[in-house]
Order: sequence, then structure tokens, then C-alpha cells
Amino acid sequence: MERRLAPEQLRSHRWYGTETVRSFNHRARTRQLGLSAEEHMGKPVIGILNTWNELNPCHIHFRERAEDVKRGVWQAGGYPVELPVISLSESFQKPTTMLYRNLLAMETEEMIRSYPVDAAVLMGGCDKTTPALLMGAISMDLPAIFLPCGPMLPGNLRGEVLGSGTDVWRYWADKRAGLVGEPVMRDLEEGIARSPGHCMTMGTASTMTSAAEVLGMTLTGAAAIPAVSSAHTRMAAATGRRAVDMAWEDLRPSHILTAEAFADAVTAVLALGGSTNAVIHLIAMARRRGIDLTLDDFDAASRKVPVLADLRPSGTYLMEDFYLAGGLPALLSRVTDLLHPDRPTVTGRSFGEGIADAQVYDDKVIRPREDPLSQEGGLAVLRGNLAPDGAVIKHVAAEPWLLRHTGPALVFDGHRDLMRRINDEDLPVTPDSVLVLRGAGPRGGPGMPEQGMLPLPDRILKAGVRDMVRISDARMSGTSYGACVLHVAPESHVGGPLALVRDGDLITLDVEARLLTLDVPEEELARRRAEWKQPGTVFRRGYGSLFDAHILQADQGCDFDFLAGSGGAPEPDTE
Ligand code: FES
Ligand code: MG
Repeated sequence: MERRLAPEQLRSHRWYGTETVRSFNHRARTRQLGLSAEEHMGKPVIGILNTWNELNPCHIHFRERAEDVKRGVWQAGGYPVELPVISLSESFQKPTTMLYRNLLAMETEEMIRSYPVDAAVLMGGCDKTTPALLMGAISMDLPAIFLPCGPMLPGNLRGEVLGSGTDVWRYWADKRAGLVGEPVMRDLEEGIARSPGHCMTMGTASTMTSAAEVLGMTLTGAAAIPAVSSAHTRMAAATGRRAVDMAWEDLRPSHILTAEAFADAVTAVLALGGSTNAVIHLIAMARRRGIDLTLDDFDAASRKVPVLADLRPSGTYLMEDFYLAGGLPALLSRVTDLLHPDRPTVTGRSFGEGIADAQVYDDKVIRPREDPLSQEGGLAVLRGNLAPDGAVIKHVAAEPWLLRHTGPALVFDGHRDLMRRINDEDLPVTPDSVLVLRGAGPRGGPGMPEQGMLPLPDRILKAGVRDMVRISDARMSGTSYGACVLHVAPESHVGGPLALVRDGDLITLDVEARLLTLDVPEEELARRRAEWKQPGTVFRRGYGSLFDAHILQADQGCDFDFLAGSGGAPEPDTE
């Protein structure tokens, strides 16, 4: 039975509709905006949180899309207000957008709390913008619907189809190995990112917008629609229309985001061969809802969910192919036995109803269950004396012979040290070495930058080797690949065992056994621990020192300790 609010029950009524001088002022100031009373009074206010800015090429179509959302809101009898929020541009923002995910989450929560908003449209897509907007909306718990920015067109170089990130790393390695010259690199520069929209591989952006869709926070099929498609424009208007209904229905994230919804998001991420970053973001989002999602949930799911999407970096195709093959609903229709159909979504229909009619139009892109890209999921959670609180590897994107490997450590203290020494002539490196990067975690990075795909030494590349075991407390771009063990927790900066590794120590990675061990006697480790000194923070003031004081470790989602959960702040007094 659907709930329906009366106009006086709308949250915004307290701003506009009461017999107080404050309310009078809000009406007068809306006349100042150029609106007459009959245009907005009694209508739900739909806040459109737009992460557009001119240094975020992934969202550069969002100025127009916001107008499409508004069109939908007006059509359905709502009052749209666009509220710009910070953009997290994966390509430009330094040192890493991860430093600012929680800032956008805080801004989202406080914007919809402090303004007369009845429902929110969350416009995002470039990597961290999706979890950030959703985390804020979950904590505020007003009706909210997510509008994914859509993937960009496939990249192209002289007729060869290219994927963002993935193929750039590959060409850059070839350039360093002396295999391609400047003219090709110039064409690559012009062909790799050909349109607005997020990275069109199954990187973090595609993974997280898909997760948002499975969670039930977008219209059905929204995540895969290419950014520049007319279907994207229509989806934006439909999202605006639906937001108005959601305001009347008072349909909140707390109604939609159940433990089952998160379990299904994990399943979908694995079936997609999605980004390792999803582990951190989904754990953080679940904690906002008070749901205990852990690394072990990912590992358990990974053992039973096959990778069906043949998308780069693990597979061959790109997001437009995935869209034309039927998109996420089509993929989900092949794993319905692993999903929970009877749960609500923002669409007003159940999750199961949304995907009931979905069909796969291309078995090469969305593989049948009998012919998966990989029988096991794309993630393994490793533990051992080197990662007591866990580490993550996307083994489907690694060279198989490295998945059980013992080799001598070669340790780098931070990214600068790595870049300075990796090509030293006398670096004692062989293809068997285990490259270790520390000081790149949530506090040490700071911000846990995407430095986890450590570059291989030129010498090794020239010998034709393209993968080595690499271990770090960093993250890795969702478009990256290789035998990279990531998110080692606790990080070295807070005294995790990674801080105690020395050159030549033997490290064993065994993905099958889910092990990551350092072959050094405990007495020796205790001696090294006693000598260890914690590095200081680089921050003296400002947001950085807030971050340093409150950031949680990777296994807990890197949220700020004081942001977990929802509620806890009073509704603002409008009288
Ligand atoms: Fe925006 Fe990749 S840079 S999604
Ligand atoms: Mg990325």
C-alpha cells in the first residue's frame, strides 16, 4: 500500500507554507527568484545535486542534463532547484579524489538537510562521486534517486577500439619499451576520450553506477546508457518525474537499502568483474545504513559468482557494447538465482519486476552461465601475517602463474621513492621479485591514492614481462590490471606489518588459499616493530587534518569515524 503525503506534510511546507515571518520571507525571496506563487506553492521541492564543473570532463554534459531533469520535475508537478556541489574529477583532482569523497558526502548530507528539499536527484558518475552522493543521501535519509552520468563513447586509435585507462597504461608501457613513437601517442591523446561521460571500461565509475542501479537507487537500466545518447536525455527527464512521485510517497533510502540490496550489489559487482574500489565504497555505504558488510562477504560471494560481463580490463568489450547487449538488467537476468527479487527500488516496482523482461542480445558481451569469462568472481580477500585485517586482489585481471608465488621483497617508501628508484641500473630486480609500496594508505598516502598498480622497471618490460606481484596499502584504478595486492590493512602508516618488510624478505602470495604471508620469524618482526617510528602527518590545519584525525582503515570503508550511521542531527528549525 503506497503512502501519499498531503501538501502540508511536505518538508518544504515548513519553509513556504506557515503563518510566520520566516515563511513570508521565503515566499518573498522566491518571488525574487522570478517565480510566482502558483508556480511552486504546494509542490514538492526537488533538489538537483549537480557535480558539474569545468575540470570534470566526465560530467561536462551535466549542465544540460540538469535542465532535462528540471523538465521532468515540472511535468510531474514539482519545483526543481539545482544545487551545485563539489565535483570529484578523477583525472584532475590531486593528490587523489579519495581524499575528498567524504567531503562530498558531508556536503550532500548537509545541503539536503539545511535547504527546503523534499526529494533529491543525485547527479554523479565519475568514480567517487557515486558513493559520495549516496553516502550523504543515506545519512540524511530523504527521498533520493541517483542519475548516473553514463559512459563515454569507445576510444579509438587509427581504427583500433580503445578503453580508458586500461589501454593508456598499455600504450605507455609500449612507449617506454620503445615500441611506439610520438605520432601514435598524439593520436592516442585525441582518440582515447572522445565524448562526455565516465570511463567506458568496467572501471570504478561503471562499477559504482552499476552498484547504484542494483541497490535500487536509479531507474532500471540507467547505468549503462551512454552519456551522449538521446536515451540518456530521456532518462534524465524520467528521473526528474520519478523524484516528484518519490517525494509524495516519502520513499527513502532506508526503505530501499536493505542488507539484501547490498548483498545483490556485491553479486553484481562480481558478475561484472568490477573495480576493487567497490569493496571500500560499498562497505562505507552499508555502514551509513548501519549494515555490517565485510570483506569476508565479498570473498564468500566471489567464490560462487561467475564473471559474466566480458568487459575491459578483465575482458574485451566496452560499456557501449554492454548497453547494446541489454545492459545491467540483462546481466542480472542470468544470475537471478543469486539475487533477492522482492525488495523495493526507487522505481516503485520491486527489483525483480524491473529485470523480469530483460534479455541478453549478445552472448559474447554478456556470457551465458555455461561459458563465463571466469568461473570464480573477480576478487579475493587475502589474510596472513602481512595483512591481519585483510587485503584484496582482482585475480581475474592478473597473469595466472603469479597467483601462487613466493619471491623476495623490494620495498619502496612512498610513491616518490618508487618513481625515483624503479629504473635504477643496480636495482636487484627480477621477474620473481615482489614489489612492495608502503606509505600509500588512507593516512599515509594521504588519501589512499591509486598507486597500487606499481610500474614495472623498464628493464623487465623490455624483456617482454608484463606482470609481477605487487603489494601495497594503496588502491588501484578500476581500469588497471596485474597481480596487484591492494588495500593491505592496517596500512604501514599506522604500524601495519607492511611497515616492517625489508628488501630480500620472502613474501608468499597464494590466492587459492587466500594467503599473504611474510616469511620472517616473529621475534625478528617484534625487534623491527620496536625500532619503528610512526611518520608524522603532512597536514597542519584545515580539511587535511580533519581527514587525518578521523579516517578509518580500508577494511572499514575509509569513512570518517563520526560519519557512520544516519540521523543524529536535528531537523533545522524554520520558524
Ligand atoms: Fe571520470 Fe574515469 S575519469 S570516470
Ligand atoms: Mg578510476
